[in-house]
Amino acid sequence: MKKNAGGGKKGVFISFEGIEGTGKSTQARLLSEYLTKKGLKTVLTEEPGGAPISLQIRKVLLSTKHKEMDYLTELLLYNAARIQHIKEKIIPAINGGRIVITDRFSDSTAAYQGYGRGISLKLIDSLDRIATGRMRPDLTILLDLDVETGLMRNKKINKRDRLELEDVKFHKRVRKGYLRLAAMEPERIKLIKASKGIEEIHREVLRIVEKVLR
Ligand code: TMP
Repeated sequence: MKKNAGGGKKGVFISFEGIEGTGKSTQARLLSEYLTKKGLKTVLTEEPGGAPISLQIRKVLLSTKHKEMDYLTELLLYNAARIQHIKEKIIPAINGGRIVITDRFSDSTAAYQGYGRGISLKLIDSLDRIATGRMRPDLTILLDLDVETGLMRNKKINKRDRLELEDVKFHKRVRKGYLRLAAMEPERIKLIKASKGIEEIHREVLRIVEKVLR
């Protein structure tokens, strides 16, 4: 662990990524519960969200009423929500030595707005530099699943938001984008097949996380 400005131990930043229906939220929660039981201070959070303003932005972004939303508006709102999230929750927790587990972070923007919407990756990268100062998780777990299975899983639990309503082709581009990101940064982004059972995936997550925490 790195030291913070006060000489104390800096926390660890872990993100979960993937297309819809991969079970990210479940795995993020299971990891957080496991680490908490072990006596480690963890903070479980999500994007868009994690701070009051970010949660308001989440409502605007995910409302199925907002079909007219421009792709650039969407991109800027995800970044705006992230700025508040980092400032109010992530940085204070990491400086306080906590393990921060977030359900989505910057890779979601590259995958959805970049590869999915087709916005220039250069523009996305420039905005990311402004919003995050190039902050990256120490570890990213990418849960990979075929698009049809993922969308079907969400349909079963009646989960529908503005982005989930996009067609299968969109979600396929997002998945491909994630796989490209993982290939570009194999040290940080670890891929797990999400077609396995919840328990098996959880055990795999623990094996990866324990290496990082050691
Ligand atoms: P979720 O809570 O179900 O993961 O919903 C968040 C939705 O927002 C999901 O469809 C992915 C999308 N999203 C983006 O398009 N870009 C982003 O930067 C983030 C954080 C999420």
